[in-house]
Parts: sequence; structure tokens; C-alpha cells
Amino acid sequence: MSFHTPFAAACADFMARATDLPAASFAVDAPPRREMGDFAVGCFAAAKAQGKNPAVVAAEIVAKFAPTDLLASATAAGPFVNFQLQRGPVFAYCVERAAAGTLLPQPGADQTICIDYSSPNISKHLAFHHIRSTVIGHALAQIFRGLGYRVIGINHLGDWGTTHGMLIAAFKKWGAPEPIDVTALNALYVRFRDEMKTNPDLENEGRAWFKKLEDGDAEARALWQKFRDVSWAEFETVYAMLGIKFDEIRGESAYEPDMPRVMAELRDKGMVTESQGAQVVELDGEKTPMLLVTKDGTTLYATRDIAAAQYRWNTYHFARSLYVVDRGQALHFRQLWKALAKAGYAWSSKCEHVPFGLVRIGGKKTSTRGGNVVLLKDVFNEASDEIAERIQASVQNNDRTSEVTDIAGTAQKVGIGAVMFANLMSQREKDVDFDWEKVMATDGDSGVYLQYAHARCASILRKAGSDGHANADLSKLTQPGEWALARRILDYGDMAVRAGNNCEPHVICHYLLELAGDFSRFYTAGNGDATLRVLCEDGHTRAARLALTEATKTVLAHGMALLGLQAVEAV
Ligand code: ARG
Repeated sequence: MSFHTPFAAACADFMARATDLPAASFAVDAPPRREMGDFAVGCFAAAKAQGKNPAVVAAEIVAKFAPTDLLASATAAGPFVNFQLQRGPVFAYCVERAAAGTLLPQPGADQTICIDYSSPNISKHLAFHHIRSTVIGHALAQIFRGLGYRVIGINHLGDWGTTHGMLIAAFKKWGAPEPIDVTALNALYVRFRDEMKTNPDLENEGRAWFKKLEDGDAEARALWQKFRDVSWAEFETVYAMLGIKFDEIRGESAYEPDMPRVMAELRDKGMVTESQGAQVVELDGEKTPMLLVTKDGTTLYATRDIAAAQYRWNTYHFARSLYVVDRGQALHFRQLWKALAKAGYAWSSKCEHVPFGLVRIGGKKTSTRGGNVVLLKDVFNEASDEIAERIQASVQNNDRTSEVTDIAGTAQKVGIGAVMFANLMSQREKDVDFDWEKVMATDGDSGVYLQYAHARCASILRKAGSDGHANADLSKLTQPGEWALARRILDYGDMAVRAGNNCEPHVICHYLLELAGDFSRFYTAGNGDATLRVLCEDGHTRAARLALTEATKTVLAHGMALLGLQAVEAV
């Protein structure tokens, strides 16, 4: 990856001048270890252009180096040139950008990204395995918004299909006590599927009700609408806990009217063939064709996804259209992109499945209700309760946490954030082992740890009180721990760009944990040596360290917000 700050640009510019090649041909990277330098640039392209060995070229380039405003030194290390930056300008850059709130580059200006995420099926609980789509999708939405994109967050509710006919049939047979809730709806469905095993007629009843629903039968429509409303009300309470608002809530049912047009279009393009009474599209390299219409004439999930993809393109002209859906649907999406390409839609190449791994529930404290589904809202509530207990206990035991003014509100932010963070921290495609102890750990790789780091910054700044640090003399920052912190802050924008390009929020998680670690070393350096304390004797040094603390706090809070976490001022 290439870095984008003025400092990275200075490295590339120097390389360009030294080799007579365009600056864009040099990727500015981080060296494998921090002590090697601040940035590293490979000489491979230059060596190829000059027909020389890369290590020789690196040495020749370094011989031409003279310090500049931004660059302090250049050394050759094999085929790489390693640069040290002038530290003063880096400190100033970090402090100023944080103060101005201009922390991220804006590559997304004038571009739209659609993100289909969460997208649960109605009449079922938002169970724990839905959390990953919801949380990853929300983080991606926040990251892309931060990078200046116009983001359309889409909840493509699963609210159409024969399932919903079965549910109506079940309700007509057995009813459900008022007020109906999702638990009751789910129970009806489970019972229906169960009895279907011994009574095959039920399946036909379900299909018949779905046919009525499709034909606009008033009773079927009214029941379906009711089930949808009840489901949405429940989903919304969870979204509200997470601070999630969708830009578009448009379920599969919204595409039902488009089905005849979609089928006519595909037929006109000669794409539709018949297979055992069903209508399908054959796709290159696929063993099974994509099913569009069943033998009894109903359209499918895939058919509606074709219409939805078209709608998104026609409405938003997206730069990227992302689908944050578990990897179990990889085949569906691969076939969908192939079908769209076969239909001649060039924009199909802008559509991406963003798959993720499963959540495995290890630790003991996750409660279950209604069978083996662990409900999301229960987990969030449990996390918040545990944090509230901790805060209360420490309020009683020492006065430090008496700085917490709103225990319930703080506990919610920290607890819910911890669960979200645990779902974002590992690489997207990896399975997540949800281990309660680790999720809630105060130290280690957790959201709680980040909250503590942020609250620590806030507490130092509170303690400094009216000790100003605006216009601090940053030349007072000469300690290695101070530099490590600034060097980390400098990377923030580039990390966000990387997270966005790869649709990997874990890049931000990892970055924030590193930043919190750098801050902790900076802060604890003063434990053994009073001159190294942030709130040290010397007023000028103190002001400079406070400015760096403030910048750290700003970046921590900003980064947490990209992940959907709300930073707290005290814990
Ligand atoms: N409702 C589907 C499910 O729960 C996910 C929908 C994903 N989005 C889409 N456009 N197919 O499995």
C-alpha cells in the first residue's frame, strides 16, 4: 500500500527526482520494523528501468539525499531506501489535523457506495449470528462516510417468498396470542415446518397462501404487513442500541412488481432456459444454473436480487455496491454477478460480496432464550450490566471512577461497544470465537481497553484543568515514547483508506489497539521518572505533552466512531 501524507509524498518526490521516474511509480510503505525508519520505498521499478541491481540503485539514490523540511535522512537497506522524517513537522501536523478534525483524506468525494447489510429475514429474531453483518456493515458505512463517500446503507429485508405464505397458513390454523411478537411468529413457523414432515398437505397450503399474497389478496396482505411491522419494531430496538440508521429499508417485497419486467428482459437477451419445468440461467463455469422461476411459477431470492441490483445502479450510480453477507452465500453472489455480466451490465464489476466467517459462542455467560438462538439484545444488555457493576464497584472502592457522571449511559456505551469490537477485531473472513472473558477484558485486545485509554486521556486533560496547550511549543517533544505516538497518529488516515479499500474494519481495530499501546507507554514512562510525566514540572513540556494527549484522544474517539463505538470520557 502507498501512504498519502505530505511526508510520504516527500519520500516519493525525492525518489522521483533521484531517478527521473514519475513519483507515482514509487509505493511508500512502512518498513518491517519501526527502528529501521519511518517510511521505506522499494527500488525495484527504478532498477528495472535502469537495468541495474535494486540494491545498487538504492545506494545511488541515497548518495543524492540531502535533508529537507520534511525528510531528515535516507539510508539504503538492500533494495529499499529507508527514510527518517523531521519530527517537528510531524508533531505539528498531527496536533493540527486533530484539532481541526481533518483526520482523513477524502478519496470518496462525489462517489457513492451502496452497502447492503444486516438484511435479516422477518418473523425471526435477530439472533447472534446476525451481529456480524450488522456490525461489519455499519463500520464500513462509517469508514466510507469518513473518507468522504456518499454512503447508502441498505437493509434488504427478507420479507418475501414461500416462507411467508407458510407463516400465514400457520397463523390461520393455530393463531397467536395478542400482542403478537417475533417469538410467537417464529414458534408458528417452527411448528409448521415440523408438522409438514408428517402432513405434506401443509406445504401446499403454504404455497397457496403465498400465491394469494403475490396476487394481492387483502387478507394475506394484511397479515403479512402485520408480521413485517412486528418484526421491524423488534429489529429497530436493536439498531437503536447500536446507533444504526439505514438510508434505505427496502425489502425483497419491494421488487415483486419488477419480476415480469426482469424476466422479459432476460428472455429477450436469450438467457433463460428451461430445466425440469423451472426457468434458469446457465452460467459459464457453474455446475448448477441460477434458478429464476420455480416450476409453479414463483420467483426467487436470486430473481429479486437481480431487480435490486438494477434498482441500486439506476438510483445511485454507485462506485461500489457492497453486500455484507455471510460466506455461506458465496455461490449465490458469484452467480448473481455472472448473470448480471451476461445480461450486459458493465456495472456488475462494481458489485462485491463482502463475506464474513461465523460466530462461535464459547464463554459461559451468553444467555439463551427460545431454543439455541442467542439473542443480540440479551447479549448487549448483559454486557452493559456487567460494565455497570464494575463501575459501581470501583466507585465504591476508590474515588478515581467517581468521575463517571452517568453510570448507566457509560456502561451501555462501553458494554455494547465491547461486543461490537469483538466482532470486528479479527479478519472478516475468519470465524469469531466469542469468549465473554476476552470480550469484556479491561486489558488486552478489547473495546473496553480502548475505552480505558480514551478515558485516561480525558482524565489527564481534566486534571490539567486550565493549563492551556494551544500553541504549545512542540519542540519540547524529544522523548522516544512521544515520537512513537506521533508516528502512529500520522498513519491514521492511511489506515482508514486501507480499511475501506479492503472492506476490513479490523485494520482500524488493530490500529487503535496499537495507538492505545503507544499511549500507555508514553503515559506510564512517567511512573519511574517524574520528568517524563505528562503533567510534569516544566510548563512548556507539559503543554506539549498535553497537546499530544489531546491529539491521541481525538484520534481514538474518531477511530472508535468509525467502528460504531462511542468513546466515553470516564470509566
Ligand atoms: N435476508 C438474507 C438472509 O438473511 C440476506 C440478504 C442479503 N442481501 C441480499 N441482497 N441478498 O440470509
